Amino acid sequence: MKKVLVNKKAAKKLEEFFPWVYRSDVISPLEYEAGELVEIYDEGERFLGVGYINPASLITIRVLSFKKEPINHRFIKSRILKAAAKRVKILQHACRVIHSEGDFLPGLIVDKYDEYLSVQFLTAGMVRFKEDILDILINLYEPKGVYVVGEESALKKEGIEPFSQVIGEIPQRVFFEENGVKFAIKLIDAQKTGFYLDQRRNRKALTRYIKQKDRVLDCFCHAGGFGLYAKVYKDAKVRLVDISEEAIALAKENFALNDVKGEFVVANVFDYLRELRKSKEKFDFIILDPPSFAKSKSKKSSALKGFKDITVNAMKIVEDEGYIALFSCSHHIGVKDLEDVILQSAKDNRKTIEVIEYLYQDVDHPYILNNEFSLYLKGILFRVHQI
Ligand SMILES: C[S@@+](CC[C@H](N)C(=O)[O-])C[C@H]1O[C@@H](n2cnc3c(N)ncnc32)[C@H](O)[C@@H]1O
Repeated sequence: MKKVLVNKKAAKKLEEFFPWVYRSDVISPLEYEAGELVEIYDEGERFLGVGYINPASLITIRVLSFKKEPINHRFIKSRILKAAAKRVKILQHACRVIHSEGDFLPGLIVDKYDEYLSVQFLTAGMVRFKEDILDILINLYEPKGVYVVGEESALKKEGIEPFSQVIGEIPQRVFFEENGVKFAIKLIDAQKTGFYLDQRRNRKALTRYIKQKDRVLDCFCHAGGFGLYAKVYKDAKVRLVDISEEAIALAKENFALNDVKGEFVVANVFDYLRELRKSKEKFDFIILDPPSFAKSKSKKSSALKGFKDITVNAMKIVEDEGYIALFSCSHHIGVKDLEDVILQSAKDNRKTIEVIEYLYQDVDHPYILNNEFSLYLKGILFRVHQI
């Protein structure tokens, strides 16, 4: 295995088990192939870890192990089995079984939807182990079908070609249950891996505060998860909004699958909230779960403007003492950022805010404290009061 030297700053982070080295912290000339395995050392030739390197990527080295050990089929298998074992107690019909750095397999995401697997490769280094990984997963779960994707936007940053592959059979719709709610989703050419499993516990948590016949507005609804829980658990009056016709079609299917009714709107939430404001329609409970507005640090300030826009307008159409759940799924937007957005929006609207719950990604998307980026999904549920 080739060696790579990193500077003091990176060495300190690695000693604290942070799993990435940025390009500016690599001392050795970047003469490596995309995804090549490397042993990492500091300037004094002290061993720090084993990982893979990609000169094309800003995150140039990703650590696979902080121990000096061979990285081979056996290593990958032990990591996958460990990740699978962690899920045994929480495994519902649908579960994320491997969550990249959260399971010490950077660049690999695996979701299990009942008898089907959705596998995403995000880095050149992980693609090198593709055959081993698929072989281990198929032996472990014996799925009816596996949909494999080399994710386009991630692999572009890695300088390698995207790809997709079907192993076995993948039907048009894959069915599963989550906390007693039935879902149908598609895996091929889907958003992300097909479904937002990370919001599972939050979907359930919110139902605690929703009352029968409450008017619920599920913004950025995708397959309809939040709204559907509100309907199935509390028989609320639910309206769901998404910009994607496909998402709304899926949400409609999911309501029908559970034999319940909702109202569905294909619209840009930014515009739709303004329309509701004009029409003076009010809601008791509003969910704002937008896509990642800040995919990079440089997009943070425009992302915050987007958050402020939807939050200000949601506060105008929520009933007095009504609830709003605001989420961010970006690494770059923290809880404090969300609090600031809420407080500024409250000032503009002359409201006081009661924080009810802080919400995070579900436990099958592990948060490793040594790696601040592994906490990516944050939400705040709050109540809006007239002064
Ligand atoms: C993070 S997902 C929502 C996940 C969903 N709440 C769930 O629990 O499954 C974000 C959704 O926002 C939609 N979207 C993106 N931009 C939008 C916009 N400007 N207006 C409405 N929907 C939008 C996407 O189509 C996607 O379905």
